[in-house]
Amino acid sequence: MKVTVVGAGAVGASCAEYIAIKDFADEIVLIDIKEGFAEGKAMDLMQTASLNGFDSTITGTTNDYSKTANSDVAVITSGIPRKPGMTREELIDINAGIVKTVAENLIKYSPNVILIVVSNPMDTMAYLAHKATGLPKNRIIGMGGALDSARFKFRLAEALGCPQSDVDGIVIGGHSDTGMVPLIEKAVRNSVPVSEFLSEEKMAEVVEATKVGGATLTKLLGTSAWYAPGAAVSELVKAIALDSKKLFPCSALLEGEYGLTDISLGVPCILGKNGIESIVEIALSDAEKEKLVASAAGVREVNNLLTV
Ligand code: 2OP
Repeated sequence: MKVTVVGAGAVGASCAEYIAIKDFADEIVLIDIKEGFAEGKAMDLMQTASLNGFDSTITGTTNDYSKTANSDVAVITSGIPRKPGMTREELIDINAGIVKTVAENLIKYSPNVILIVVSNPMDTMAYLAHKATGLPKNRIIGMGGALDSARFKFRLAEALGCPQSDVDGIVIGGHSDTGMVPLIEKAVRNSVPVSEFLSEEKMAEVVEATKVGGATLTKLLGTSAWYAPGAAVSELVKAIALDSKKLFPCSALLEGEYGLTDISLGVPCILGKNGIESIVEIALSDAEKEKLVASAAGVREVNNLLTV
């Protein structure tokens, strides 16, 4: 498998690193507009191969898309990250132009590529990628839910005082501080509902901490996070590479699923060699449904700001 990662900044480099360490890809190409930057990151990463025990090759290029030719998967991380106090939505003007150009360049050299969109505001950027490329809906995956669900599990385990491997839960809806819908009613500790262990108040705290997970890190780091975003991307790419049919919440183009159309929004998806193999429509409680509808309205407002 050949994987291109567009953007060799912290998120892109972290994606490349985790993909390499998991050792399922033959070739990883890092591409960036900053002269020599992707080449440098790729060389640095390649010098970890004997230490980390992987055989994937990583190369870098300064904006030469011909080097990305015939990629099976391409991850779009390019654009500006948010600064403390900024919302993901405030990045739209700059990032929309970048994501559109990047998506078009990728398709030109890799007509069969599956795109994973990471750039923010992510749901709107995934929607824009659909509009700009006209790719079938299975081939554009917005990465948000996999990351938000990992942050949800971190907060659940913290509240429960247990290892993260003991908990499970997913976050659907938009990848924004107000749009995320952590499905707390369905979250479990080794198949036991977390409500058996946590008070209503504690569960509400877990939900709130999850929703502002990215913002909390941006405040601490001065820019947005990269380890968990990179790790989340690597799991999505791995599911495609191994045709694993694992379920991840991803931003997918909806055409009637959950009663919504003409929007990319986080919903449970089965991932395999075709990208999104299917969207799973799980039964939601009335409260969950209401939150998902409100989340979709928020994402639509941002989509309406698109001018490209
Ligand atoms: C985050 O939530 C980068 O949007 C990403 O950290």
